[in-house]
Amino acid sequence: MANLLIRGATVLTMEDQEGIYPEGEIAVAGDTIVAAGEQGCVPENFQADRVIDAWGMVALPGFVNCHTHAAMTLLRGYADDMPLMKWLTEKIWPLEEKLQREDFYWGTSLCCLEMIKSGTTTFADMYFEMDQVALAVEESGMRACLSRGMIGLGPGARIAVEDSVNFVREWNGRASGRIKTMFGPHAPYTCPPEYLEEVIGLARQYGVGLHIHVAETRDEIRQIKESYGTTPVRHLDNIGLFELPVLAAHCVHLDQEEIEIMAAKKVGVAHCPESNMKLASGIAPVNRMLAAGVKVGLGTDGAASNNNLDMLEEMRSASLLQKVANEDPVVLPSFESLKMATRAGAEVLGLPDVGLLKPGMKADLILVGFNRPHLCPRHDIFAHMVYAAHSADVDTVIINGKVVMEGRRILTMDEEEVMRKAQEHAFRLVGKI
Ligand code: NI
Repeated sequence: MANLLIRGATVLTMEDQEGIYPEGEIAVAGDTIVAAGEQGCVPENFQADRVIDAWGMVALPGFVNCHTHAAMTLLRGYADDMPLMKWLTEKIWPLEEKLQREDFYWGTSLCCLEMIKSGTTTFADMYFEMDQVALAVEESGMRACLSRGMIGLGPGARIAVEDSVNFVREWNGRASGRIKTMFGPHAPYTCPPEYLEEVIGLARQYGVGLHIHVAETRDEIRQIKESYGTTPVRHLDNIGLFELPVLAAHCVHLDQEEIEIMAAKKVGVAHCPESNMKLASGIAPVNRMLAAGVKVGLGTDGAASNNNLDMLEEMRSASLLQKVANEDPVVLPSFESLKMATRAGAEVLGLPDVGLLKPGMKADLILVGFNRPHLCPRHDIFAHMVYAAHSADVDTVIINGKVVMEGRRILTMDEEEVMRKAQEHAFRLVGKI
């Protein structure tokens, strides 16, 4: 692998708000950052195979999308503006039944294409046919934490266990370490306690974490209360789920004691503000979670309920939503949102060497073009990233030390082919061809 030197960019290390270095430098050896910061921080004996001139750009860690269902890009715009259960039972689930193996490959490839073009370098996925998903991830050059969605009811429950075990055994640590696997029990209302206990045992056996939807809607709260006489977080805690590393998506409806349980048990939360708004699920108490010390990252959720995978939008929505919900403009300032979209997201996914620009971290970084009218004047770069930048401002994306997009041109995939194939597969699904 080549040694890269990036010079001229304003470097945001994301260590703290003071970590801004105008006309800074970043040196990458193989897949790892060896220096990042002010001009002159790169060791004199560093031999660059390639120099990237990034004057006028801002360099920062790539975005970490903590919750999605990648291949749902094929269902983007197929069904919108409907109540959640009607949307699921009449539109999404019947169509998911018809998904074939190759659909997952092309749907995920489209997802990776869109994510790279909007500056995301890592994502957490929960879906099906995960070997196809992993293949698409491997080829795209992205980093991902992948889990096979497991529904613990009906005849699919056993197959889900078998598939998940095979997937974890086969793919954990593959693609030069870019792929990490998890178990993906879908939710407390689709996985009975005995099933969850079995999955916990397997996660422990294979040394991996769990990805699960938690407390997304009021319906779920009601259902869990009826079945188990308690709330989803307490129920999962009673079962022992939180003794393992857990990525909990949504966490919209929580009381203060549940927030404290999650902080004490170090549960990672994937906050998905746009999906929660679009499905009218509610507003997650992000402000209170952060105050209690809960680790919170950001996720887009699937493209059927967002409808894009744009982390810049997600940051903006997260900040604005907390401000309006708390009727307080001070809540969730730009640096905190940007942190959620980068280093906090990496922590939530259990990736200790991702999400910061500093020596020893994996070289996952993006260069954002700032010579744009909407990013001028440069009073506050963090504010510009969260409140003013567009995903189309992302110019260059480097993942694991490899340039995967440069000048907005994707180098790992054939963009036209991916879009053509995804369109074909999506239209077959809905019977248009
Ligand atoms: Ni989801």
